[in-house]
Amino acid sequence: MCGIVAYVGPKDAAPILLEGLQRLEYRGYDSAGVVVSNKGLKVRKVKGRVADLAKVVPARFKGGLGIGHTRWATHGVPSDVNAHPHLSADERIAVVHNGIIENAAELRAKLEADGVVFASETDTEVLAHLIAHAADENETLEEAVRKTLKSVVGTYGIAVIDAERPGEVVVARNGSPIVLGIGEKEMFAASDVAALVRYTRQVVHLEDGELAVLKADGFHTFASDARETAKEPLTVDWDAGHYDTGGYEHYLLKEISEQPETVTRTMSGRLDERFHVAHLGGLNMDARETRSFRRVKIIGCGSAYYSGQIGAQLIEELARIPSDAEPASEFRYRNPVVDPDTLYVAISQSGETYDTLAAVQELKRKGGRVIGIVNAVGSAIAREVDGGIYLHAGPEVSVASTKAFTSTAVAFALLALHLGRVRDLSPADGRRIVEGLRRLPGQIGEILAQSDKIAELAKKYAGHAGMMFVGRVRGYPVAREGAQKLKEISYVHAEAYPASELKHGPLALIGPDMPTVAIVPDDELLDKNLTTLGEIRARGGQVLMVGHREPSAKLADDAIVIPKNEIELDPILLTIPLQLFAYYAAVALGRDVDKPRNLAKSVTVE
Ligand code: F6R
Repeated sequence: MCGIVAYVGPKDAAPILLEGLQRLEYRGYDSAGVVVSNKGLKVRKVKGRVADLAKVVPARFKGGLGIGHTRWATHGVPSDVNAHPHLSADERIAVVHNGIIENAAELRAKLEADGVVFASETDTEVLAHLIAHAADENETLEEAVRKTLKSVVGTYGIAVIDAERPGEVVVARNGSPIVLGIGEKEMFAASDVAALVRYTRQVVHLEDGELAVLKADGFHTFASDARETAKEPLTVDWDAGHYDTGGYEHYLLKEISEQPETVTRTMSGRLDERFHVAHLGGLNMDARETRSFRRVKIIGCGSAYYSGQIGAQLIEELARIPSDAEPASEFRYRNPVVDPDTLYVAISQSGETYDTLAAVQELKRKGGRVIGIVNAVGSAIAREVDGGIYLHAGPEVSVASTKAFTSTAVAFALLALHLGRVRDLSPADGRRIVEGLRRLPGQIGEILAQSDKIAELAKKYAGHAGMMFVGRVRGYPVAREGAQKLKEISYVHAEAYPASELKHGPLALIGPDMPTVAIVPDDELLDKNLTTLGEIRARGGQVLMVGHREPSAKLADDAIVIPKNEIELDPILLTIPLQLFAYYAAVALGRDVDKPRNLAKSVTVE
């Protein structure tokens, strides 16, 4: 997705903008550009990487005010011309923009009728021309931007500079994040804290509809009706080191390998060995309210949704509350019935996924009680919900989610324990789960120690055009996540099915060319799963089994055997070998592991 960086202060802006854009590269983009103000606007933009941009930014690009952008094409092909920043015809105003202006065609037609000649095919360029017109008629840049945005329909995070006002940047947010960074006599803004943490840890998140004016000595924020708003700066506990590969070949491998620590952080200070409960103060709920819910509805997108399926299973099993998960992207469009006795749980690593945010807003509008399970502190979803659980997994840089997935599943185990222990979950079962959670980090380490073997298996299977992933009940969301990881980073077609459903259709696909990864934990469904393996093998299908015991050669060609935990917690551990399998398959196929094609880290558009 697109990225924004802005700077105003005593230093030269260009190197800071380029460094910030590099920090945003992980989000995925196709072109990049910067503009600095120094006796007029100086622009460079290229199709390609930030490194290509750096090569064309000359040393004489001086000036302490500038904005930069990485673009992920929506309107118009990736090209030098379509890259941001976009300038007004008189080259007075420069704009960078994330999001989509829905009425761009209409605005463009009006401007063209007035004689404006467009340089690009983008929706963003209309903003540059409109703001330039408004700047002629208004005293301040902020007024010009504020009034212009009134005529705009769509989503945006924008940064704007004016050649005639060399000491300020105006930024605005509507559906696409903007965060301000407060420095010593300098100010920053970006679409993601990743671009700021090298310079400052003091940040301010803008709300939808808010604008801000940044000058070297400070900032002020205001709403779309020009009323000033009050903002409390937050200190982010992520530093620049979190954004390095730390000696690993890829961020993805680093993030998979960090999981013993990240799940520990998710549990830290939350487990109580005396009452065998979980303390979740961030839920902002007393015991009476905690007992009052009769259903739990979980929403999230992609892998977050699959981790929600694991969560629903955990809550039903441990708290005996009917629970289910649904893609937030579907939920928001189907006019859901919102029930006062239901606890709604929104999951998001980034806290900025537009579909999930919109679903939360729809729920709140209808009076629903929504909590969040979120990684990014202070993000839009975290601010919107009534309470929640932060994952504390640290920034997830690789596009494919791994450590946030397992931390979310752990957060659900805590929530299930919390909901269960104010209901019928016995102290003995509570203790069993607390002890099981404590064992997870060490057991994850044991699975990671099998990396070489998993890499060999990945190489063996990666050459197939497609793979089937199957699992039953607790194993099914694991199979879905395993298939998701494989397809998104290796581009091998992968299909996930409940093992029980195989014979109702997809068994027709099984044969020597379609291997199956079978999730077969040692639980009450073991015999059923082994029967499924027999059915696959009888049709000439290869089987890679992931479970707790070595299968007979009759049932599987290969196996990854992992340590056993409590059956309710097995899905967390079963996921880890599948992450490694996908990673090594993608490496074997020479894919761009951290930035898979067509994907972006946080999907802030509809
Ligand atoms: C898959 C993946 C995506 C995200 C989804 C939601 O590996 O990363 O499916 O899980 O886009 O993102 P968040 O959790 O940021 O809301």
